[in-house]
Amino acid sequence: MTRSLQDQDGIPQPSAKERFAHALTLVPEIATVETRIRSTFKSDVALMREIPEYLLSLGGKRIRPILALLCSKALGAAETTDDIVDIAAGIELIHMATLMHDDIIDQSPIRRHQPSAYAKYGTPGTLLSGDFLLTRAFGLCSRLEREIIEATEQACIELVEGETLEIAVPLGEHTTESSLTIATRKTASLFRLAAFCGASLTDSSDTVKEQMSKFGESLGIAFQIIDDILDVTSDEATLGKRPGIDIAERKPSLINILWIASGDPAAQRLLLPSDPLTEQAFVEESLAKLRASSVLLEAKKAARHHADIATQNLAQALGGDLASLTPEGEALFAVIDFALERVL
Ligand code: FPP
Ligand code: MG
Repeated sequence: MTRSLQDQDGIPQPSAKERFAHALTLVPEIATVETRIRSTFKSDVALMREIPEYLLSLGGKRIRPILALLCSKALGAAETTDDIVDIAAGIELIHMATLMHDDIIDQSPIRRHQPSAYAKYGTPGTLLSGDFLLTRAFGLCSRLEREIIEATEQACIELVEGETLEIAVPLGEHTTESSLTIATRKTASLFRLAAFCGASLTDSSDTVKEQMSKFGESLGIAFQIIDDILDVTSDEATLGKRPGIDIAERKPSLINILWIASGDPAAQRLLLPSDPLTEQAFVEESLAKLRASSVLLEAKKAARHHADIATQNLAQALGGDLASLTPEGEALFAVIDFALERVL
């Protein structure tokens, strides 16, 4: 149910990438969000300024704050209030904290084409900067309505649970269902929070808040599946890190789970302890096999399924009349299409 990828009446439509680029022009307030984020990097302990600034300088799509801003505008917010800037900044700060902690857990040397904060500053400083950012995020959102504070707490709990399920349960015990539970908790929870906050701060009805939350969550699940696919199909220059990391780390990504379930004998090695002497060859052979396998098609189908649920919920939240969408409403559909187009 992707909406706008095909030509209409023979007139070529802009690509999802072009529509996404246009979407960004509708939220110039993202610069204010960035300033708000930076304003929290205040401490007389130099490392607590330096490490967050380093991670922020590595860039990123800022997809979560963009979602919060676009959702509030698409639901009719007359202006971007301080509250929406605060929560958009808070959500990105939480995301940054999770990346710091995740790179420690994964012992990941690279993030966004550069040494990760963990590789550059070591575990203690990076761990504590993550704590610092998380606390700053709560400082920003604690001034907001109770339902936003509770939704933020819930998202953070799910982040921790998702990451714990990923590392604490052996790969052989995972199923497609548990893999999707992890994606929902470790990735989709913040997307859901961003969309919910956009609706909540625009005085939307409970039904619209629920539909927007479902839109954000389904988009987040699709986003994580797409990340899993790109880990196989993409290259280092595009990804900003080596491909095949999910294979090397024996992650319960949807791709790994589907590959094991496919019965391919080569996949069974994922369930054995890795042998450092042959590991690199195994990762490369696995990538070659997966790129030519039906596992990729199955994963793409799953990503499309969740993108369709996102599309349906977004359409409902915006009133169901797709013929008279605001530019911001149209931009939210462009975000879904752009996410999917990365793997089409
Ligand atoms: C990246 O996964 C990791 C996450 C999306 C979530 C990480 C969550 C935690 C570390 C829990 C800590 C929670 C708080 C609130 C600070 P990935 O390793 O698959 O992706 P990557 O390739 O970007 O590293
Ligand atoms: Mg990681």
